[in-house]
Amino acid sequence: MKKYLFFVITILLYSCSRNEKTSFPLDYEQEKIIDKLINNMTLEEKVGQTCQITLDAILLKDSLNKLIEPHQIDSVKLNEALLKYKVGSILNVSNHTFTLDKWHKILSQIHEKNKQNPHGIQVIYGIDAIHGATYLSNSTLFPQQIGLAATWDTSHARKLGEVTAYETRASGIRWNFSPVLDLGRTPIWSRFFETFGEDVYLAKTMGKSIVYGYQGEKFNDYTVAACLKHYVGYSFPRSGRDRTPALIPKRIMQEYYLPPFEEAIKSGALTVMINSGEVNGIPGHTNKYLISEVLKEKWNFAGFTLSDWEDYIKLHKEHLTDSTIEMAIASAFNAGVDMSMVPNNPQYKEYCKSLIKLINDGVVSEDRLNDAVKRILRVKGKIGLLSDLSVPDKNNYSDLASKKHRDIAYNAAKESITLLKNQNNILPLKSEDKILLIGPTSNSLNCLNGAWTHTWQGIETKYNNDFPTIKQELESRLKNVFSFEGSKMLMKDGDEFDEISNDLKEAVRVSKSVDVAIVCVGELPSTEMPGDIYSLNLPDEQKMIVKELHKSEIPIVLVLVSGRPKIIRDIEPLCDGILQAYLPGDQGGVAVVDILTGVVNPSGKLPYTYPRYDGAILYYDHKKLETLNGNNWKYDFFHPQWNFGYGLSYTDFKFSNLRLSKKNISISKNEKITLSVDVENTGDIFGKEVVQLYARDHYASISPPLRKLVRYNKISLEPKQKKTVIFELDALDFGFFGIDFDWTNEVGKHSFFVGDLEASFNLIK
Ligand code: BGC
Repeated sequence: MKKYLFFVITILLYSCSRNEKTSFPLDYEQEKIIDKLINNMTLEEKVGQTCQITLDAILLKDSLNKLIEPHQIDSVKLNEALLKYKVGSILNVSNHTFTLDKWHKILSQIHEKNKQNPHGIQVIYGIDAIHGATYLSNSTLFPQQIGLAATWDTSHARKLGEVTAYETRASGIRWNFSPVLDLGRTPIWSRFFETFGEDVYLAKTMGKSIVYGYQGEKFNDYTVAACLKHYVGYSFPRSGRDRTPALIPKRIMQEYYLPPFEEAIKSGALTVMINSGEVNGIPGHTNKYLISEVLKEKWNFAGFTLSDWEDYIKLHKEHLTDSTIEMAIASAFNAGVDMSMVPNNPQYKEYCKSLIKLINDGVVSEDRLNDAVKRILRVKGKIGLLSDLSVPDKNNYSDLASKKHRDIAYNAAKESITLLKNQNNILPLKSEDKILLIGPTSNSLNCLNGAWTHTWQGIETKYNNDFPTIKQELESRLKNVFSFEGSKMLMKDGDEFDEISNDLKEAVRVSKSVDVAIVCVGELPSTEMPGDIYSLNLPDEQKMIVKELHKSEIPIVLVLVSGRPKIIRDIEPLCDGILQAYLPGDQGGVAVVDILTGVVNPSGKLPYTYPRYDGAILYYDHKKLETLNGNNWKYDFFHPQWNFGYGLSYTDFKFSNLRLSKKNISISKNEKITLSVDVENTGDIFGKEVVQLYARDHYASISPPLRKLVRYNKISLEPKQKKTVIFELDALDFGFFGIDFDWTNEVGKHSFFVGDLEASFNLIK
């Protein structure tokens, strides 16, 4: 009995101490099983676990090496990949969305074949379900991340996570390459729309919620493993072009780029995808410091890291840091990349053979391989792939693409849309208004969704779900709508090329007899390198619509359907109303029209600073020196079109009575401070307002930003209702990375800001 007790206590102690150390709790029994498995696995089997191939690699192709439609698995290639090379992971889908049945068929074939392998370790299938289950026909599509951030309400991020996990899981897939936790500080970068915008705190809080949504409290049949990407610094390419070098000083890396990842790791995220670009000359995939020392050792990340697309090949061919592909595999693996998205055929075979050779030659140690495999199997164990090899029963997923899910996506869309201008209360429209609707994004579901929708670039129309565009929805609701195209967005040599439409003249003629013109502008969907652009300026052809209509002296409402700020400095004064719709997803048509017509009172706020000029990109958390204007020697150079956090409502809110619980906060005692503020809806309609709390450190040894978001809370208020909002903070909330690269607090005067209110306090020793 004593012996038994001792055994139990030892197990408990072991698991407790392991749990304390790792980023998510480990299952002691499963760890033992994995260790045993690894002992029994051959070198080939272990290497196979680290290899990820694309679905194309096992599909039937014609004599010209083109995929045959409808896609079918090539049994010879499947045998080779799973049985000979023991490949442990497959990703994505080629070209387009599949139906639920098709996914089940594909996954069953993979699962069945894999059963012939001795250890029953299932393939982990990953997919980019980044705003809903994007590669599953009829799935529920949400706003892209930039819009989600504009809701300033983390419950939408959590719900997006839950619905996306549910629908992805319905197809049999258990791993989602989402969320993107790169900060959106380069609006010209093609993947800006995939981020939560420019602020660290907003990205941290949204990221944490989406991870909870995907993974749930405990893994079950409705959850998926999250994959944080692209660790780290990927979003800040100096040239603005995708996958090109970034220069990020260590302090900025610590204070801005790492925290959203750290927060999501603390929240239990199971996997991480590595940055395809390079930071300060070191490719993401060979940055041992960031991958092994920070992520795995400092943060105790217990899951596995995945390379991005073909990145070890890029180390040799593009970064030029490794003279052979074999050396590149060694560099990435030794830096801490556990699984490689190889992903093509026959390259994956070379990858496997090279890694085996590197281990046999001692260039990569078997311990390192075992560590990678252990991490991969640990995640597979967590999501049931070491035991449960079945595809799901469709009957268990009756909420798939249901009204319930659609409403959740609609709520996120309606709360994201941001009213930027509303001169003379031009909005909401009146039901009797005669409306001229025009512009290249007014009748496009693809433009509402953006890239990663049914296809990679999101431009193909034939896979679209059946939801209304802005035009279709507006015409179905109001009697007097006159619709025109105005301009076209075409593709020429891989770039968007805009052209005035023949109907612009007629639109101008009709405009003389309407009450208001709604002009929907924006850009064609695109992402990654094909989405690289030269300028943030809204094309002249689109601006021409506004300029021509303005001659008729009618009010103009501009609707921006775009995942980033397009420069509209010269047409902004010609517009009475401006709405930023971002990329609101399949429910965007309804949500935009609900806001235009006043069914919904807008409550979105910009998650980025909207620039006035595309040459001067300043962030809201700029420093005083950045505001000095050499033309007049005033501090007024920060003059964006609209500031971060900006957004109007159809009602008015008043902030008052900002109070602090104390005037001095001790750093050594890590004292807390409570701030409260009253918010009143002074108008006549219901509305939601985001209470944004910013802090300022007046003097610091590292020149401080003028403000930093430290908390936010979105609240609902009935007409004339007043609420008190309370925030609690501690000394650490006012810290920064000091001269010695440690999180530091310095004594001295600090201030809080909410709206126009300010209250000061002192940090003391
Ligand atoms: C992208 C990743 C994506 C992966 C798989 C890469 O090109 O950078 O974000 O998850 O492809 O589709």
